[in-house]
Amino acid sequence: MSRVAVFASGTGSNFKAIHSHLLAYPDAARPAHQLCCLVSDKPVCGAVAWAREMGIPVVPMTYAKGLSRESVEQILLDELRPFQPDLLVLAGFMRLLTPVLIDAYAGRIINIHPALLPRHPGAHGIADSYASGDRLLGITIHHVDYGVDTGRIIVQKSFERTGRESLEEIEKHLHELEHATYPILVASMLDTLHAQS
Ligand code: GRF
Repeated sequence: MSRVAVFASGTGSNFKAIHSHLLAYPDAARPAHQLCCLVSDKPVCGAVAWAREMGIPVVPMTYAKGLSRESVEQILLDELRPFQPDLLVLAGFMRLLTPVLIDAYAGRIINIHPALLPRHPGAHGIADSYASGDRLLGITIHHVDYGVDTGRIIVQKSFERTGRESLEEIEKHLHELEHATYPILVASMLDTLHAQS
């Protein structure tokens, strides 16, 4: 069994999709994996509410005034230790990570972005790609490095737009793609980590 910690700051729809997939996942050919905890910088958000409802431990990340991002991550590393995560999965986590956490989990932190990187990085990937003239829109799952959405790309899924869709329709389509892709990729990475352990 491998363990995954999910990081989320918002609605948590990807977090829920990953959780549901891992619960349904074990079969004769594959090992079960555990979503060991949710890490969140927002004490009140959809992801935290879902975690509490499902009995998933919540590890708060408190960016208190006067505390450096590095210190916050150092505290988090100590709090994560008992959960022994093999993989850290960012799913709508709206904070930039520093080398403290990234180096501690080198090669084992991934993120999902609602645009076809390297186009439209940053916090407004959906609005930016909608406003662009891009014919192809889509999502990217990538490793996390020190930059903003610059890490090595693992997978991208795209679709062609007609140009007649509203922003809401594009957003819905992107989220559907995310939910269909991220849980499967996470489970497959957990399989690989399990096989290597
Ligand atoms: C997703 O669109 C993801 O690509 C981006 O943040 C959003 C999170 O949505 N990084 P949710 O909280 O999983 O619903």
